[in-house]
Amino acid sequence: MNRLKNLRQKMQTEGIDAFFSIVPENRCYLSGFTGSAGCLLILPERAFLLTDFRYIEQANQEAIGFKVIKIINNMFASLALITQGAKRLGFEGDYLNYLDYCRLKEALPQTELVSLPDLVTGLRSIKDSTEISLIRTAVQIADQAWANILNQLEVGQTEEGIALDLEFTMRRAGASGASFDFIVASGKRSALPHGRASQKKIAKGEFLTVDFGAVYQGYCSDITRTVILGEPDKRQKEIYELVLAANYAGIKAVKPGLKGKEVDAVARDIIQKAGYGEFFGHGLGHAVGLSVHEGPSLNMREEKILQPGMIVTVEPGVYIPDWGGVRIEDMVLVTEQGCEVLTQSPKGLTIVGCAQT
Ligand code: GLY
Ligand code: MN
Ligand code: MN
Repeated sequence: MNRLKNLRQKMQTEGIDAFFSIVPENRCYLSGFTGSAGCLLILPERAFLLTDFRYIEQANQEAIGFKVIKIINNMFASLALITQGAKRLGFEGDYLNYLDYCRLKEALPQTELVSLPDLVTGLRSIKDSTEISLIRTAVQIADQAWANILNQLEVGQTEEGIALDLEFTMRRAGASGASFDFIVASGKRSALPHGRASQKKIAKGEFLTVDFGAVYQGYCSDITRTVILGEPDKRQKEIYELVLAANYAGIKAVKPGLKGKEVDAVARDIIQKAGYGEFFGHGLGHAVGLSVHEGPSLNMREEKILQPGMIVTVEPGVYIPDWGGVRIEDMVLVTEQGCEVLTQSPKGLTIVGCAQT
């Protein structure tokens, strides 16, 4: 399997002779095992998946090339039996909790433990053709659900009802679930960048920001659209067009060789020059894959360099307290020349939901 081969190359570069993995997405990425419990031990010549009674059969079916080991009592005791002799063992220091770190140390007293949080996430950042195809489908499911919802939006519906309809539509279309708790924020609530759907009813004259996504065969999509319920006023138009311009500029800037912070700066500059910099307080985007948020990011600090095969969001926003806000989020695939926009939902300012007003 290429993924294991690539990992072993990285292990060599890092000078480790064992790698211990417990991050669920990393475990699935490396082994194909989709169960919710277990850990991996990767050695230069062998690969083990340790899991419990509930998952043995599934693990044997899914984790091709792995020796499946049933954990009887204690994962770390089982690990010690197969790790014997490893001199330096890498682990996911951003995820292993302190108590488990102590247990690992106790189980392997002769082994040096090396925190390598980026080892697998670095591999995951470049998507292969199978992953790209699954993510395309996750995006299509979200696009299609959005098109359905747009036709049905009416003043008086609750934010929670809209979130529920979206999830239901996506699951009907093959999604296994929502990629996160949807953000549906209308009126003044649209100034909350992460305003979870509430019981508030959407009303005429308001912005409605909807941030949602599907999980399809383990892979996520993430999209935001902001629409207006009725005719926009001058300021609403101005803010919307500003965010849209930043979205387009950000997408145009995405190309291999640029640092995440350089792409962020292109979009941020537009919002800053218009005088709204203080109202764009989050990063421009993030990678998406098995997790809805993964590396690299597009933000003011990100030094990592974009490469073909990465899939990132471009999601500028302007949020004005006690007034409202706009975010427009697309997913793009970094290509050799620049990027391909995966999200297909229209993003010109769209007036919706006022048939009965
Ligand atoms: N749901 C948060 C985001 O778009 O990243
Ligand atoms: Mn989003
Ligand atoms: Mn996002």
